[in-house]
Amino acid sequence: MLQKLLFNRRSVRKYQDKKVERPKIEAVVKAALTAPTGKNLKPVEIIVVEDEQTLKLLAQVRGAASKQIAGAPLAFVVIADTRESSTWLSDTAITAIIIQLLAEDNGLKSCWVHVENRKAEDGTSSEAKVRKALGIAEYYTAHCIVAVGYQGEEKCAYTEEDLDYSKVHKERFGNSFIQNT
Ligand SMILES: Cc1cc2nc3c(=O)[nH]c(=O)nc-3n(C[C@H](O)[C@H](O)[C@H](O)COP(=O)(O)O)c2cc1C
Repeated sequence: MLQKLLFNRRSVRKYQDKKVERPKIEAVVKAALTAPTGKNLKPVEIIVVEDEQTLKLLAQVRGAASKQIAGAPLAFVVIADTRESSTWLSDTAITAIIIQLLAEDNGLKSCWVHVENRKAEDGTSSEAKVRKALGIAEYYTAHCIVAVGYQGEEKCAYTEEDLDYSKVHKERFGNSFIQNT
């Protein structure tokens, strides 16, 4: 089941003009809150955005890389209090992928839009733009935005042929996993 879900998950940047039902949003939120964090410090927080105007604002934070958010009915903004933990970068990333997988599990598609350490088209910080748009304090990282909705463009699922085993080593770097099993 999980393997099928992982192969089927593809980033989608066009969505149907259809709202995501509240129970599905809650299922995603619930899963996100189970995400493991370094030392269990839980610095990660999520802002659930459905407001059209706010989604349009978020679509501007990275130019071309974020413009698809304007066409999504829903976005999860993944942030973290950087004062609370030294592993916030990993913690936020784990939460974001859990959001993507739970979206997939609920018949939805998603796309990660990276914000942390990125710039908007006007050269200003993407994180600062997200913080301003959503009223987030300075000491939070605005790590990424996961746009979510019903699939509005075709994307092929991954197959065995897509898997790059040259990235997998056996015992020592450079030893092929495939040839040495
Ligand atoms: C860390 C990270 C940052 C990403 N940033 C963006 C982004 O800013 N905008 C975007 O459209 N897609 C973004 N993506 C989606 C990737 O482009 C996408 O995952 C990749 O092309 C592989 O396609 P797949 O998700 O369909 O397997 C990001 C994905 C990751 C994991």
